[in-house]
Amino acid sequence: MAQLDPHSNYDTTQPRTRHIRLNWFVDFERHLIDGSVVLELENPSSGYFDLDTKALTIHSASAQDGRAVACQLDDPDPILGGRLRLQLPDGTTSITIRYTTSAEAAALQWFKPEMTLGKRLPFVYSQCQSILARSIVPCQDTPRVRVSYSAAVTIPETLTAVMSAGPAGNRTGEASGTQTFLFEMPQPIPPYLLAIAAGDLQSRDLSSRARVWAEPGMVDKAAYEFDEVERMIEVAEQLFGPYEWDRYDMLVLPPAFPYGGMENPRMTFVTPTIIAGDRSLVDVIAHELAHSWTGNLVTNASMDHFWLNEGFTTWAERRILDALHGEESSALRWAVGQKVLTESITRFGIDSPLTKLRTDLRGVDPDDAFSSVPYEKGARFVTAMERQVGRERFGQFMRKYIETFRFTSITTEEFIAFLNQELPGTAAAVEADAWLYETGMPSSAPVFKSEKLDELTAAAKAFADGIRPEPKQAGGWDSNSLLIFLQNLPRQLDRESLGWLDENFKLTERGNYEILIEWLTIAAGSDYEPIFGRIREVLLKVGRMKYLRPLYSALGHHPRTRSLAGEIYEQGKAGYHILSRRVVESVMEKFHE
Ligand code: BES
Ligand code: ZN
Repeated sequence: MAQLDPHSNYDTTQPRTRHIRLNWFVDFERHLIDGSVVLELENPSSGYFDLDTKALTIHSASAQDGRAVACQLDDPDPILGGRLRLQLPDGTTSITIRYTTSAEAAALQWFKPEMTLGKRLPFVYSQCQSILARSIVPCQDTPRVRVSYSAAVTIPETLTAVMSAGPAGNRTGEASGTQTFLFEMPQPIPPYLLAIAAGDLQSRDLSSRARVWAEPGMVDKAAYEFDEVERMIEVAEQLFGPYEWDRYDMLVLPPAFPYGGMENPRMTFVTPTIIAGDRSLVDVIAHELAHSWTGNLVTNASMDHFWLNEGFTTWAERRILDALHGEESSALRWAVGQKVLTESITRFGIDSPLTKLRTDLRGVDPDDAFSSVPYEKGARFVTAMERQVGRERFGQFMRKYIETFRFTSITTEEFIAFLNQELPGTAAAVEADAWLYETGMPSSAPVFKSEKLDELTAAAKAFADGIRPEPKQAGGWDSNSLLIFLQNLPRQLDRESLGWLDENFKLTERGNYEILIEWLTIAAGSDYEPIFGRIREVLLKVGRMKYLRPLYSALGHHPRTRSLAGEIYEQGKAGYHILSRRVVESVMEKFHE
């Protein structure tokens, strides 16, 4: 037996799933999905077949000819869920499993109508990465087993369903008042890219292959914000090769979505907090789009190789933005990234194994290991290789890498073998082993220089010494510049300074959440009472973990902000995703240390 993915019961000696057929009835009253899955196998098989499940109720399993298949569901592991062991009769080519999800299925977040923008109709969406697909479908939940899929999804007729797949029509559902949406995903994907959402959705076309979906009250704002997407796709195709997924559509989720974006193929899911009104946060779109190559075509074999997904994608995102907006603006993004990287390394500790790129997460929940390290350390490692061989040669290498490994899932070691073959000597020259297998940052890590960055850090330092930036100087700062200025300010300021900042930069009213949260974090850490109302408002609405962590942490510094945090959390937690709740609870546990 060989279990290569520490987060899956997939056993390499057993049969592999090739295609999945879903038949789902989405129950908005009971908050569950009831239905069946057909797992089609690569080859006719027999014997043990182990699947991953999480909080599923299994009703029955049968082979393609209707013969019952014996199955046993083990006691659940808190991280991995329960192993479902089937015993396949001779010649099994497909297995049908009838099952029901739990109302607490970790991959799903349900919204009652009053929790949506329109307040009229319910909403549900899934988030399967890293290891939560198993909470909505029994499957070999490892990126090593790629599957194509088809789905029939029955929902109330007032709602619209979308998936990480191509639409394949719809028909009236069997039960009255229902409608069935059909989907086809012909390309093999890792199970973590399975995704569904349903709600009161409308769409706007952005180009012949890109469209945005959102609740009606949001869809025009979203269309304005993401107007640039076709140009991004074109630039990315030049950099990384043809876009292979047919359409690139996007879905704007409710603000409780715990992430910024999720690269579900053909249907990126995004937080509404990137809709700033001035297109200043489209780096998230560039990022999710870049995953169409690095992540969705070439996929990490398990979460121990997550940097292959996120490090390359963070680097690719900045290459796309360089091409569209110039290198100066991406130098600022690298600076923002440096800040969050340093914070993550400090939070884990410089010697923590979680600061390695290649991790060993056996027994660790990938959601607890999540940080900027695979993103920003990973992207710096990619840059180190790029600088070593030059941009042009590295670009050719990237295209060949993607072409060679498209539609496969690979390990760090397979990547290094390919690097050694294509660019001999590079791994040693950039100290690849230090990047991958050692904690902290190598001393040779690339530095990103920019005059603008120097100006901004100097202005922040001067501010701390009581010297305000000149209106003429600050007037020329774009969103990223202002963000970097704020990031470099002391975490605690006096009332006079805080008042000056808010008055001159209108921070409390900002539509750009990066700036807004940075400001509220400084103000919260400074016990600045005038913005407590705004903090409450934001925290009761937004569930993006990237924002909850710093803001709740900052509220931990003073007695009255601590009680404010507790009060807000009590009121807001019902609306938070379970991952967001975990983050806030872990932050608040440290309040009294
Ligand atoms: N794939 C990630 C989101 C993710 C990672 C979900 C791990 C679950 C487990 C996505 O591509 C991502 O990185 N999103 C970032 C965007 C940012 C780096 C531009 C986010 O959510 O903040
Ligand atoms: Zn990503």
